[in-house]
Amino acid sequence: MQIPFSKETYTHRRRQLAKDLGKGLLLFPGNNEVGMNYAGNPYQFRQDSNFLYFFGIAQPGLFAAIDAESGESILFGDELTMEDIVWTGPQPSLAELAERTGIDKVLPSAELGTYVGKAKSGGAALHFTPPYRWDNMLKLEQLTGIGAAEQKNAASADLIRAIVAQRAHKSTEEVACIEEAVNITATMHMTVMMTATEGKPESELAGIALGISYGLGRGVAYGIILSVNGHILHNHYHGNMLRKGQLVLGDFGAEANSHYAGDITRTFPVDKKFTQKQKEIYQIVLDAENNAIASLKPGVKYMDVHLEASRQMTEGLKQLGLMKGNVDEAVAQGAHALFFPHGLGHMMGLDVHDMEDLGEQYVGYNDEVQRSTQFGTAYLRLARALEPGFVLTVEPGIYFIPELIDQWQAEGKFTDFINYDKVNEYRHFGGVRIEDNVLITDDGHRVLGMPIPKTVEEVEELRQR
Ligand code: GLY
Ligand code: MN
Repeated sequence: MQIPFSKETYTHRRRQLAKDLGKGLLLFPGNNEVGMNYAGNPYQFRQDSNFLYFFGIAQPGLFAAIDAESGESILFGDELTMEDIVWTGPQPSLAELAERTGIDKVLPSAELGTYVGKAKSGGAALHFTPPYRWDNMLKLEQLTGIGAAEQKNAASADLIRAIVAQRAHKSTEEVACIEEAVNITATMHMTVMMTATEGKPESELAGIALGISYGLGRGVAYGIILSVNGHILHNHYHGNMLRKGQLVLGDFGAEANSHYAGDITRTFPVDKKFTQKQKEIYQIVLDAENNAIASLKPGVKYMDVHLEASRQMTEGLKQLGLMKGNVDEAVAQGAHALFFPHGLGHMMGLDVHDMEDLGEQYVGYNDEVQRSTQFGTAYLRLARALEPGFVLTVEPGIYFIPELIDQWQAEGKFTDFINYDKVNEYRHFGGVRIEDNVLITDDGHRVLGMPIPKTVEEVEELRQR
């Protein structure tokens, strides 16, 4: 198990959190093993990201607490017995792990209930983040008396805000971890782009990407999206064969050994070259992506970047005859969402959608920027003004979703802006998305990781190798 940072880093993070909260007991349930088909055959273990950020220990069966008033941090867990060691081999003791991460005290799991109970009866408020695993909901119910169904609402807004304030700003050492994940991800993408040929199953390419991610890191940060049906946004089906004339959309990213994520998308033709039709759509998406990246700097609202990318793609679609009318008005009304029904990007870090468990209203929005209710823009996960240290994705796309086209056409929706006859000529096109990972610096931005081919010429060159 890798503990990526120094004990001072973890101690500093916990002290800051305790200071921000001032009083109360902060509860951090670590994740447990989850049985895939029976308890002894679990899914790959993944520690909770808040636990990783503040306590650094990627081991199941732990619970941590911080007394915000005294600043004391306590790790609850049980040392391995000799019977465990027969199966797992010797492991560092909890005392050693606590020492390595600057945690003040280790107590057996059996003492957790008494400890929390004492704090509660002493009048301490119990702070926890919204739980997302059932076992931890049950544990929180036992500890706090709040039922699983109520816990999302009962989660501590003060704790959430304090965590977001820290985790949203990546330190230099965190950026290095993300960059490592992005570089593994680059190798995955380039290998897939060099290996794909007509007649291969999508699953073979997904397997290659997966193999590289496990070979160089901890595997993938989210389920691989790799499909000739790129218009299906989160398409985890890999059962198709690659056929001439199709596009392949690959959206996948590694989780580095430090647990930080990469999240990159590339789209390329099954043939060695794009068709004219593919090239035209691809170039619109690429220009929107490059222009969006170029505009990133502190103070810029990501909502504005999203809307500008939407306008640019609408203009491009208008030039191809797929859209018509006033571009500003089309985007204001949401007509572009037929082609671009998702947000331009999201924060990333320990999670691919960083801190999504804490709630996007805290992570991506604030009093200044409210979430839109309009189809498409409503899916934007990050909208507020950018700050140095934010790491985010830029991922515009254009898709032809036959079911959505049919529904909107049948409803006569946005006929002032959408040329349905022309759109229907693209029914079998699929989709194009291009995604990179960007750090906001003090005066601008930096695209993370090694360059991955993305101009038409670069992609075609790589496909011919
Ligand atoms: N990489 C998938 C997503 O951003 O939703
Ligand atoms: Mn993404």
